Amino acid sequence: MPETFEQRIATYTKRVDACLDAALPRPSTEPARLHEAMRYAVLNGGKRVRPLLVYAAGECLDVNTTLLDAPAVAIELIHAFSLVHDDLPAMDDDDLRRGKPTVHVKYDEATAILAADALQPLAFSVLTNVGGVPASVKNALVQLVASACGSTGMTGGQSIDLAAEGNTLSEDALEHMYALKTGALIHAAVVSASLLSEDLSRADTQAIDAFASAIGVAFQIKDDILDVEGETHIIGKQAGADQRLGKATYPGLFGPDRARQRCDELLDSALQHLDAFGRNAAPLAWLARFIVERGN
Ligand code: IPE
Ligand code: IPE
Ligand code: MG
Ligand code: MG
Ligand code: MG
Repeated sequence: MPETFEQRIATYTKRVDACLDAALPRPSTEPARLHEAMRYAVLNGGKRVRPLLVYAAGECLDVNTTLLDAPAVAIELIHAFSLVHDDLPAMDDDDLRRGKPTVHVKYDEATAILAADALQPLAFSVLTNVGGVPASVKNALVQLVASACGSTGMTGGQSIDLAAEGNTLSEDALEHMYALKTGALIHAAVVSASLLSEDLSRADTQAIDAFASAIGVAFQIKDDILDVEGETHIIGKQAGADQRLGKATYPGLFGPDRARQRCDELLDSALQHLDAFGRNAAPLAWLARFIVERGN
């Protein structure tokens, strides 16, 4: 029996963890407290869904694994930076992340802000280290990740999220916010592999793009469902935090049934976009299902 993607997850997770460890400054390098906080933000657990999407998309599109390490690491570093800022008192004011104290609780607010600040340029530095590809591909990767984390991507989505606290949004407006704050980085993870793939047809490029957009939104809807239905010790974050803050969320505005239904619709649509890739898409299909079925 050939090995399944699920069986390769531990290998990929170890691989990206080793790359992240190598990319981060040593904890003893001065300023040591800043570097310790950066390492704590990144290496304190996490499902590594975005790196796994990079590797799974790479399997689907036949990209050499060594080329995938740089985008996998860069996007996880940006994700970690986004979580540190997301948890700050000025934003979601959370004290628990991945079952441990958040960075500003473990260290202090200023150190958390600075650690996240430093993770962002580190991500781009790693991305430019991708070897053996033409400069045009490297530039396209940098553009992809920059726009995914900038003011029309994750950061813009976070801004809309904060402005929407206590307000009602239409489904379209809510999905737009999700596509930015969470979908953009997930989309970039998948699409980074298509940028590294040679001779991808226009139709296949569009199918990968549409798959990535659908699972990005589904990921945030599921995160919101877990906030309502999950238990703190399992999700590793304080359950019920969204309601406490009056966050505009799918289950909050449209009810848990509609939230689950929309997640399933997005999963179906995502899986349909994989049809053209046949068995090569099994890893991406597995991750898409994981995103809507996960328990944390
Ligand atoms: C949490 O992301 C933040 C969102 C974008 C919803 P993850 O659920 O991927 O967090 P970790 O990395 O596994 O902790
Ligand atoms: C986070 O959304 C999106 C980010 C860009 C970090 P949430 O605020 O719902 O994420 P959690 O629930 O704190 O992980
Ligand atoms: Mg938030
Ligand atoms: Mg939050
Ligand atoms: Mg949440």
